[in-house]
Amino acid sequence: MATAEAQFNPFDPAVMADPYPYYRLMREGDPVHWNGTIRTWFLTRHADVSELLRDDRRFSADRTRSERYVPPPPERARGARSMLVVDPPDHTRLRNLVNKAFTPRMVEQLRPRIESVSADLLDRLAGEGETDLVAQFAYPLPVIVIAEMLGVPARDRMRFQEWSAVLIRGLDPFVDAETLERVFDAREALNDYLNGIIAERRRQPAADLITGLIAAEEEGDALGHGELVAMCNLLLVAGHETTVSLIAGGTLALLRHPDQLDRLRREPALARTAVEELLRFVPPVQWTGRVAAEELEIGGRRVSPGQSVVGILAAANRDPEVFPDPDRLDLGRDPNPHVAFGRGIHFCLGAPLARLEAQIALPMLLARFPALREAGTPEPRPTWNLRGLARLPVALG
Ligand code: HEM
Repeated sequence: MATAEAQFNPFDPAVMADPYPYYRLMREGDPVHWNGTIRTWFLTRHADVSELLRDDRRFSADRTRSERYVPPPPERARGARSMLVVDPPDHTRLRNLVNKAFTPRMVEQLRPRIESVSADLLDRLAGEGETDLVAQFAYPLPVIVIAEMLGVPARDRMRFQEWSAVLIRGLDPFVDAETLERVFDAREALNDYLNGIIAERRRQPAADLITGLIAAEEEGDALGHGELVAMCNLLLVAGHETTVSLIAGGTLALLRHPDQLDRLRREPALARTAVEELLRFVPPVQWTGRVAAEELEIGGRRVSPGQSVVGILAAANRDPEVFPDPDRLDLGRDPNPHVAFGRGIHFCLGAPLARLEAQIALPMLLARFPALREAGTPEPRPTWNLRGLARLPVALG
């Protein structure tokens, strides 16, 4: 994209490699940018992205309202949709139900378990010269935690890891037919699997989130069976594919800013603001989309009903109107109103859990391996939406 007038193409390999210069060009020259080829608006200013997410009346999360929506073939039509892609009043009902089972208190109680899982994973690395930090630490930690929290056996980890990896390909717009088939297959397989676990918990309740969600259903609230499956599917996938990027991407950002890395090592109490700054600087979810529910105006441009509007969270997080010196990583930055977890009614349910995991994992990793450094080229993930690392080779000693 030579000028702001040219079309922003998120799938251009140069954009995939480093999108930030492009985000900046758009934010400065064309902050409400229309790509006529893929018929999508792209928002890059913090104020516009916040408005998009807060105004759930004018901007719908229901993708079936998009002019570009192509319904799946009838034999692939899935059951209930998750709360991420429905509007009030359905969203309100689903979110209230899960809020009952997924409370901040429940998350805080996980602290000792997160510490012990982190310590075990780090123990296993001791003595290794080099390792892939994604496979050995950043991935297993959140996966073990969400599996235990939900109540799915951690021994089945490899199976839902595979399904989850396929499912997230379906989040990028414009996936090809073959990928879409694989996404449908993975969704059906994961849902069958979850159906089995839910049936078991109905027979034999346990102290886990699935049992909590079943109880919420049985108290007369209307969490139907299909909705319960969709909810567990969402929680499992969200728990798999996001925090891993925060831990791995956050570690890489620290390794590339040694002054900030030293600062966190010297002052582990900085973990809270450090994690917020890493969320701002390397947001695991790059963007999220809505559909215009009516003819409307945003940032001075007219948007027609049914058009897709994408808010680039990563671009909003570097808006100099809100963040002084936005391209500088400053672990003490406070306040830090980044939008890495979204805004408004769909604000990330798992935010307290993701924060706690990263606040524990990063200082433990740095304390355990004082000579930690890069050892080879990090490998990016192939998805644009969930930007992160597939591999992060590091030397430990
Ligand atoms: C660093 C890690 C994470 C990041 C950056 C992240 C990011 C986000 C974002 C941006 C949204 C809003 C999407 C939108 O408005 O369209 C969201 C929603 C959501 N997240 Fe997360 N997430 C993370 C971890 C988690 C975890 C660990 C869980 C589950 C345990 C989770 C569960 C959810 C759910 C259920 C929603 C939908 C909420 C709703 O529609 O009301 N997330 N997340």
